[in-house]
Amino acid sequence: MKVRVLFVLSVLSLLVSWTTSDPVLTGFLQCLPKQPQSAYPIFEAIYTRLQIRTRSGGHDYEGLSYVSDVPFIILDMFNLRSIDIDVADESAWVQAGATIGELYYEIANKSKVHGFPAGACPTVGIGGHFSGGGYGPMMRKYGLTVDNIEDAKLVNVNGTILDRNSMGEDLFWAIRGGGGASFGVILSWKIRLLPVPANVTVFNVKRTWEQGALNVIYKWQYVAPKLLDEIFIRAITRLKNSTEGKKTVEVSFVGLFLGRRDKLVPLMNESFPELGLQLKDCFEMSWVESTLFWADQPIGTPVNFLLNRPQGPPNFFKSKSDYVKEPIPKQGIESIWQMMLKMDKVLMQWSPYGGRMSMIPEWETPFPHRDGNLFLIQYVTYWVEEGAETLKQHLGFVRKLYEGMTLYVSKSPREAFQNYRDLDIGANRQNHTEFETAKVYGSKYFKGNFDRLIRVKVMVDPYNFFKNEQSIPPR
Ligand SMILES: Cc1cc2nc3c(=O)[nH]c(=O)nc-3n(C[C@H](O)[C@H](O)[C@H](O)COP(=O)(O)OP(=O)(O)OC[C@H]3O[C@@H](n4cnc5c(N)ncnc54)[C@H](O)[C@@H]3O)c2cc1C
Ligand SMILES: *[C@@H]1O[C@H](CO)[C@@H](O)[C@H](O)[C@H]1NC(C)=O
Ligand SMILES: *[C@@H]1O[C@H](CO)[C@@H](O)[C@H](O)[C@H]1NC(C)=O
Ligand SMILES: *[C@@H]1O[C@H](CO)[C@@H](O)[C@H](O)[C@H]1NC(C)=O
Ligand SMILES: *[C@@H]1O[C@H](CO)[C@@H](O)[C@H](O)[C@H]1NC(C)=O
Ligand SMILES: *[C@@H]1O[C@H](CO)[C@@H](O)[C@H](O)[C@H]1NC(C)=O
Ligand SMILES: *[C@@H]1O[C@H](CO)[C@@H](O)[C@H](O)[C@H]1NC(C)=O
Repeated sequence: MKVRVLFVLSVLSLLVSWTTSDPVLTGFLQCLPKQPQSAYPIFEAIYTRLQIRTRSGGHDYEGLSYVSDVPFIILDMFNLRSIDIDVADESAWVQAGATIGELYYEIANKSKVHGFPAGACPTVGIGGHFSGGGYGPMMRKYGLTVDNIEDAKLVNVNGTILDRNSMGEDLFWAIRGGGGASFGVILSWKIRLLPVPANVTVFNVKRTWEQGALNVIYKWQYVAPKLLDEIFIRAITRLKNSTEGKKTVEVSFVGLFLGRRDKLVPLMNESFPELGLQLKDCFEMSWVESTLFWADQPIGTPVNFLLNRPQGPPNFFKSKSDYVKEPIPKQGIESIWQMMLKMDKVLMQWSPYGGRMSMIPEWETPFPHRDGNLFLIQYVTYWVEEGAETLKQHLGFVRKLYEGMTLYVSKSPREAFQNYRDLDIGANRQNHTEFETAKVYGSKYFKGNFDRLIRVKVMVDPYNFFKNEQSIPPR
């Protein structure tokens, strides 16, 4: 009993210090002793000031949805996964814990001529992917996920459920690309379904360095961001062992055309002859089947593959991102390829911008990387063996590539894509949000939009309840 009294006293003394810091918490705790005597020792069951981490699909590159260096709880959304498609209204309500694969599957289940412009990996969660400004192979036609969201339901710091109307346009703006984790818990999104043709075309054309890949990717920089909005061609550079056992570089040009192949081939022959695209390289399929192709599945894979949840042990990887505004000279590409040849298990993925992306003003959503960018680079290194040595070696690879590209990518700030989260670019530690540190990662992810994100944060979460290593600070 004595211990209990002491405990209550210490809680009360803490209360005093909280009085000035957080009125919501103070009110809650002051209210408790006034309740009729409970059978349970209520104070012992109360933990305050734990961090909260909200997880939807758990694909955060740095694990911020399920890792923290202070005591925390995980709010896991994985059972909130209903998807309600309204074909007549060309819209859908999607809960945060659904995956984008489930969304693609459900859209196709109701309509063969609708789609949604989200990412390539089916197991990515709606909650994190949408709030971080997710993109995929229909980006040049329709922009990002956040450019096609009409409403949202969110639980704010006071526990109130808000929709677009009750949260107001500032908060609704902030969660469409500013990251959900700084502002509340997103329950669901209302999205606009977009028209897709009954037949789309995909291809994957590969060229090694010896087969002239350098010329093709050099020209790609000029062409890919200017093609018809219906064409998206990603260039992925990987290491390859040639048949003679020599290590070389190979580039895969992976494409989606929202139309038929007999229209695509002459178009490409005219504007991008260096690629040498032939009819036999092109495969026609429904839009939902093309999402499997982008998920690296063999043609003919059953569509219900999209319903699989992640399984098996995860591999390790580390990613970094960059934006390119001027074509990279041939000797620049060559020097980075030479660098890659000295490494192992690294790749670079270049995704073209232009089209719809250039039409949307930089401030329309928190995602600022719009007009003026030719393409987005993702650098990746991956490995399977655990251990500090392998970890250090691979982190070294990807950081060296990033360093080696400094001359050719965006500057002041060196922009970065928030959905490719990277704590190297600036991060807070240990439960404390330093404004000066936040300014560093904030300007790279959000450029001028960072200031408005701070104003929204001050309005909706002034005591910084929702925080992580790269959250928006309440200045
Ligand atoms: C294999 C792979 C492929 C990818 N491909 C693409 C791609 O093609 N295009 C692209 O744009 N991105 C891609 N990404 C990145 C992906 O979009 C981001 O990692 C995204 O944040 C993942 O969302 P999630 O819900 O799965 O992750 P989580 O780890 O659950 O969450 C990510 C962040 O969002 C917060 N969050 C999650 N749910 C909520 C919620 N309900 N309310 C508030 N905050 C929330 C978390 O706290 C965390 O900060 C890929 C990632 C992986 C691992
Ligand atoms: C985290 O920060 C909050 C206030 O910002 C503080 O009250 C709490 O004690 C801190 N938690 C830890 C574990 O340091
Ligand atoms: C839609 O989904 C239901 C339930 O999974 C399934 O029985 C039906 O065959 C699907 N219809 C189409 C057109 O895919
Ligand atoms: C090439 O071969 C070496 C030696 O067999 C191997 O370690 C490496 O992983 C291979 N690389 C690729 C890209 O296949
Ligand atoms: C590409 O164009 C050239 C002439 O411009 C033509 O001779 C050739 O047949 C075309 N190839 C294809 C596959 O259309
Ligand atoms: C192309 O679309 C038609 C419907 O317009 C469909 O019947 C056919 O199966 C589609 N072809 C492919 C390869 O998907
Ligand atoms: C939360 O509740 C407190 C106390 O009632 C109030 O002052 C504050 O404005 C509310 N915050 C939000 C974001 O609604």
